[in-house]
Amino acid sequence: MTVLADDVLAYTPDVAAATAPLYDRVSRIIPEFEWPVHAPLIAAINRLKEQRNAVILAHNYQTPEIFHCVADIVGDSLALAQRAVATDADVIVLAGVHFMAETAKLLNPDKVVLIPDEAAGCSLAESITPEDIRLLRQAYPGVPVITYVNTSAAVKAECDICCTSGNALKVVESLGVDRVIFLPDEYLASWVATQTDVQIIKWKGHCEVHERFTGDEIRNYRKGYDNLLVIAHPECPPDVLAAADFVGSTAQMVDYVRDRRPPRVLMVTECSMSDNVAAEVEDVEFIRPCNLCPHMKRITLSNIHRSLQTLTPRIEIDPDVAARARLAVERMLAVGR
Ligand code: 13P
Ligand code: SF4
Repeated sequence: MTVLADDVLAYTPDVAAATAPLYDRVSRIIPEFEWPVHAPLIAAINRLKEQRNAVILAHNYQTPEIFHCVADIVGDSLALAQRAVATDADVIVLAGVHFMAETAKLLNPDKVVLIPDEAAGCSLAESITPEDIRLLRQAYPGVPVITYVNTSAAVKAECDICCTSGNALKVVESLGVDRVIFLPDEYLASWVATQTDVQIIKWKGHCEVHERFTGDEIRNYRKGYDNLLVIAHPECPPDVLAAADFVGSTAQMVDYVRDRRPPRVLMVTECSMSDNVAAEVEDVEFIRPCNLCPHMKRITLSNIHRSLQTLTPRIEIDPDVAARARLAVERMLAVGR
């Protein structure tokens, strides 16, 4: 393994010139006085990507300096999985959480897949184990198991097919059965259940970020702001979703705002989403109820830089687990969005 020499991380005139076009992309949301802190790392990361033939996949919840200035591919969990299949890079850096990096590794077993901080987890992934699924299969023999991608590879290996928030309904209906086990997000499962005749057996997992929103909070925002469009992620509790005008995955939320240009919008999801859309959409006012995902926020320019320098921490998955988990992800990709 080649460890590259440390870059000199200073805001030199060369760095200022090289990063000026990138600052234009984020000038609406990153104050000018902050740029000298980010710019040297951004320049160094973009150089390292070329040297390593690396690509950075960033989830929609990454901070704007990552999302707009070093990422090559951005999107929701489904888009990141779909795009991970197509890359011809030697190295993939996943700017997101651990399960997303595992999915990228499942789809690219021969590539180096890096997660800049291994502790970037997810409360949903933590909520269920492979043993739980084996017990559920005993309790409901013959009922297919769908797991949300927000799970470990070991859990995926026990299921029949995966889904994301962007294709959950389509995956449920693709199986042609009248009953499914849908894990682990109780609220996403409830949301899907409102749109299908398929009976859904749920689990009690929750996203620690989205479960904090309440229907009262949304109604109060509506009282405070005229003409407010409310769009929410399906990991929110049912009373929040009932109070929303549109429900969708992070990418579907972004597309909704990009295409419809509502004058004023409340994105009921993680904080960085609004920042990232606000950077490119001038004519929309974002009201920001801000719940941070502490796991997503573990990823920083600094640890991306370190990860590319040292080519660590790498994702490794037991080959037997990987073979079974890959099948579940590939079946989902065949269903599409
Ligand atoms: P998306 O697939 O909608 O991007 O959601 C992933 C996630 O972790 C949301 O909390
Ligand atoms: Fe997991 Fe929620 Fe964070 Fe998404 S926002 S990664 S579901 S804890």
